[in-house]
Amino acid sequence: MKIQLIKNKVYLNNGSLKKEIHPFWLRERIDDEKFLDKGTQQRLFDPTSLDSEISIDKVCINDNFLEINFNDGVSSKLDISKLALEFSNEDTVIKSITKVKWDSSLKEIKNFEYLENFFESREMYDLLVSFYKYGFVIIKNIPINDNFIVNFANSIGSVRRTNFGEYFDVKSKSDPNDLAYTSLGLTPHTDNPYRNPVPCIQLLHCIVSEVSGGLSTLVDGFTVTEDLKNENLEFYKILSEVKVRFKFIDKDVVLEDWSELVKLNNDKTFKQVRFSPRLDYVPILEKDQLDLYYRARKKLSEMYNSNKYRIEFKLAPRDLIMMDNYRLLHGRTAYETREGNRYLQGCYIDYDSTEGKLRHLKRKFNL
Ligand SMILES: [Fe+2]
Repeated sequence: MKIQLIKNKVYLNNGSLKKEIHPFWLRERIDDEKFLDKGTQQRLFDPTSLDSEISIDKVCINDNFLEINFNDGVSSKLDISKLALEFSNEDTVIKSITKVKWDSSLKEIKNFEYLENFFESREMYDLLVSFYKYGFVIIKNIPINDNFIVNFANSIGSVRRTNFGEYFDVKSKSDPNDLAYTSLGLTPHTDNPYRNPVPCIQLLHCIVSEVSGGLSTLVDGFTVTEDLKNENLEFYKILSEVKVRFKFIDKDVVLEDWSELVKLNNDKTFKQVRFSPRLDYVPILEKDQLDLYYRARKKLSEMYNSNKYRIEFKLAPRDLIMMDNYRLLHGRTAYETREGNRYLQGCYIDYDSTEGKLRHLKRKFNL
């Protein structure tokens, strides 16, 4: 990729393609002290108030800087290497981490250990990279005093509060408003599919574990989606095209949101799965369409519930699992309350927390 100048015009040349860089695009990026606050990196001018007929009177390249005189009287030097970072419209930090498909054969992946200054450490950077690769990480030895999970969440970003509170206690309760608060087994599901937006990441912190059951289960929705696409394109298509209604009600709130069970990005890549078969309402489609839809949903459910895809493990007290609620499904095996207590605390954070922290640590450690 290189910059070329022809008659007061600036071109970007990637070897096969040459295109002109709009003068206004360059004018917006002027970073002299008068135009950009060095501390916040925020503009001190409003580009929407500039004359849209911005052009270049004079330009040259000097020492990897573009020296430009614009027609509105402003002159500046622009760092070409800084501009080059913007030529790709991709998020180069998060998108450069390739998702690793996994199933029940997943070998032990690295567990992390909570230490002092954890949140600003290189270890934290490695943890976040691992999270984006596999969709989950387990961190051991997290303090359990004073609802430390909230502290943990707020040290990465901010807790995403819901109607279950800032955090929630997962233990068997009388008169529960969700099956999570019983000792029943929970088949693989995603949390809060009825919420707009759905919370991105769930943290679960084990406080007490005195029972022999109550194993945590995880399934990689990304792997299942890719496999379904290869095995039955018709099923994949209908599940990624039909929006269903998810609904949650209790005495205080009625939450509803519509979504496909398999949500794709605009470029048809994987974005999100939602699955909670106690909460979804399929719209009234033509009978043959519904026939196909129900067969597809059944197949998807069989895959999510199959031993081929599920991993099971026991969280020990002080273990905290951080899992991607857009990518993974989670559940638990049943347990006997007669054996003792099982008590986890949970809360949600969103992607801006983990993404912001990852970019910050990458910058901090020059990675
Ligand atoms: Fe859940």
